[in-house]
Amino acid sequence: MPVLADRMNHLGTETAFEVLARANTLAASGKSIINLGIGQPDFKTPDHIVEAGVKAMRDGHHGYTPAAGIPQLREGVAADLKKRHGVDVDPGLIMIMPGGKPTMFFACLMFGQPGTEILYPNPGFPIYESSVKFSGATPVPYPLSEANGFAFSAVEVLAKITPRTRLIIVNSPANPTGGTVPKEEFDALVAGLAAWPDVHVMSDEIYGQMLYDGREHTTLLSYPELRDRLILLDGWSKTYAMTGWRLGYSLWPKAIFPHAEKLAVNCHSCVNAPTQFAGLAALTGPQDAVHAMVKAFDERRRVIVSELNQIQGFRCVEPGGAFYAFPNIEGTGMGAKALQTKLLEDAGVAVIAGTSFGAFGEGYLRFSYANSTENIREAIKRIKACLS
Ligand SMILES: Cc1ncc(COP(=O)(O)O)c(C=O)c1O
Repeated sequence: MPVLADRMNHLGTETAFEVLARANTLAASGKSIINLGIGQPDFKTPDHIVEAGVKAMRDGHHGYTPAAGIPQLREGVAADLKKRHGVDVDPGLIMIMPGGKPTMFFACLMFGQPGTEILYPNPGFPIYESSVKFSGATPVPYPLSEANGFAFSAVEVLAKITPRTRLIIVNSPANPTGGTVPKEEFDALVAGLAAWPDVHVMSDEIYGQMLYDGREHTTLLSYPELRDRLILLDGWSKTYAMTGWRLGYSLWPKAIFPHAEKLAVNCHSCVNAPTQFAGLAALTGPQDAVHAMVKAFDERRRVIVSELNQIQGFRCVEPGGAFYAFPNIEGTGMGAKALQTKLLEDAGVAVIAGTSFGAFGEGYLRFSYANSTENIREAIKRIKACLS
């Protein structure tokens, strides 16, 4: 056995990739599989974005770019944030990143070490807890409850802060629940943080353009008093159906930006150059495809929530954003992991156990509705048959 550093024992993973691998194995053996497990849009990247990437390759953009990204794209991100949120940000503080995940990793490495604490949502995106543990910090989950529509309670989050807390991770709209946090809770959180000047916040807003029923996105960028303690995470993966391009960005406080840049130089040098040009076309080109995709997700959301509520033993609150439904399955009498396995092996439906997103996910399953309405209906039919 190789003798590895202790920190390797603290690294977690994302079960969605394991379920995907098992689903693919079953499909390769001839079994019909409907995949409601993986969190990626089932749409193709819009043509004009693909063309911009191809053109960049043909135009000879084959070399390294600055570690923080090409200036046009950093300026494009600042312009997009101004357009969407009406806020001014300095393009010089924007880092173009290879996806959304590296920002979490960087933030945890910067703030986490033994003796410190980092707060994060549970159930929540599993890489938060994994990155916190890897950093050596003590992971401090704050619970999200079904009764609260899976929004955090600012009072509960603030109550978990101690003099050892260095970073709070927030995510709205959220994976895996589809929950959105009301503006009043963000107001209360930011107000309470005035008493804790050493605590930074990483706001994962990667689903910020996927909201339903007239809900509006609350960005933490809109609180000037938090700006010098805010790390904003966003990207192209979900909004523009670009998960495989690996393109994201983060905005860092001025005092921290040089550290983020140094981590990038050490870790990945820069993001693939043609991908950055594709990302620029995504931001500056027509947004019709984004609107069409969100409209399709909304239609599927209505179908899946209504269908899930008809399965005996299931109960599902309306998700306000992202493309996930998170039904309570306690009425089936089965644990989340056992039901995940049964549905995949017996019904050919891939979903993810709530426990993959933290201990408070027990009693829930995550359904990604990034799949066609026909497939969603067929999946529910199979689940009903399997459980009856
Ligand atoms: C909440 C959240 N943040 C970040 C990411 C990571 O996005 P990317 O694929 O761009 O790294 C995901 C992906 O599923 C996510 O659900």
